[in-house]
Amino acid sequence: MPIKAINRANLEYHIVSLKDPSSAIAEQYRKLRTNIDYSNFNKEIRVMSLTSTFPGEGKTVTALNLGTVYSQSESKTLIIDMDLRKPKIHRAFNISNSKGLTNIVIDGEDKDNVIHEITDNLHVLPSGEKMPFPAEFLMSKKLRALIDDLRTDYDKIIIDCPPMTAVTDASIISKFTDGTLVVVASRRTNSDIAKQIVKTLNDNGANIIGSILTRVQKKDHRYLAGYYYYSEYMED
Ligand SMILES: Nc1ncnc2c1ncn2[C@@H]1O[C@H](COP(=O)(O)OP(=O)(O)OP(=O)(O)O)[C@@H](O)[C@H]1O
Ligand SMILES: [Mg+2]
Repeated sequence: MPIKAINRANLEYHIVSLKDPSSAIAEQYRKLRTNIDYSNFNKEIRVMSLTSTFPGEGKTVTALNLGTVYSQSESKTLIIDMDLRKPKIHRAFNISNSKGLTNIVIDGEDKDNVIHEITDNLHVLPSGEKMPFPAEFLMSKKLRALIDDLRTDYDKIIIDCPPMTAVTDASIISKFTDGTLVVVASRRTNSDIAKQIVKTLNDNGANIIGSILTRVQKKDHRYLAGYYYYSEYMED
């Protein structure tokens, strides 16, 4: 499949790490990548998912940038959109979502026909045609078999998920990933609700590999010394 050109004029999401790899923001995503790799050196994290409490906390932006920096470090990387209710990954690359993950699993579509090659190392699988029962789809054996198959094709698979408070999808997805990242938005995420989703993920057997703080404002900096992962994308 030919490499798709990215029409930047139409991008809803700016993938800073792709557009400007030498920027300070891209450097923060590389730090995040390093933190994930070094903190989990005893267990290979090949497939990871991202979730959060509520919509708009930065899951998709983080998945896009993290996937990009992995691909730039010679890891063959696939970003999969498993937010089947509000899919957005395709918009970032200006690619079609008429066929994607759901079409491979349900219609037997060839994966090579629906995975988009953004660069040699960065591939994207949009969510595909909408379906009435996303949770049932996510629990299907066929989906697990596909992920197992993709594990042999890619070094890293980054899965963008819906938020935890709306639906159970992210918990279901976490069962077939090697690790789950919890995205927390500065000044927005309610800490009690965040603790609750961490408990729910743990109770479901998820391997939580860390949290990522997003939407940090400059004035927040002095409070953040103890943060485990710190993804900086500063708002004034
Ligand atoms: N690290 C960040 N710092 C500042 N703003 C951010 C950051 N990450 C994302 N944003 C902004 O927050 C908004 C929501 O981001 P995004 O779509 O990634 O959230 P989401 O958690 O995927 O939402 P949804 O649950 O609706 O899919 C966007 O306008 C995005 O530009
Ligand atoms: Mg999203």
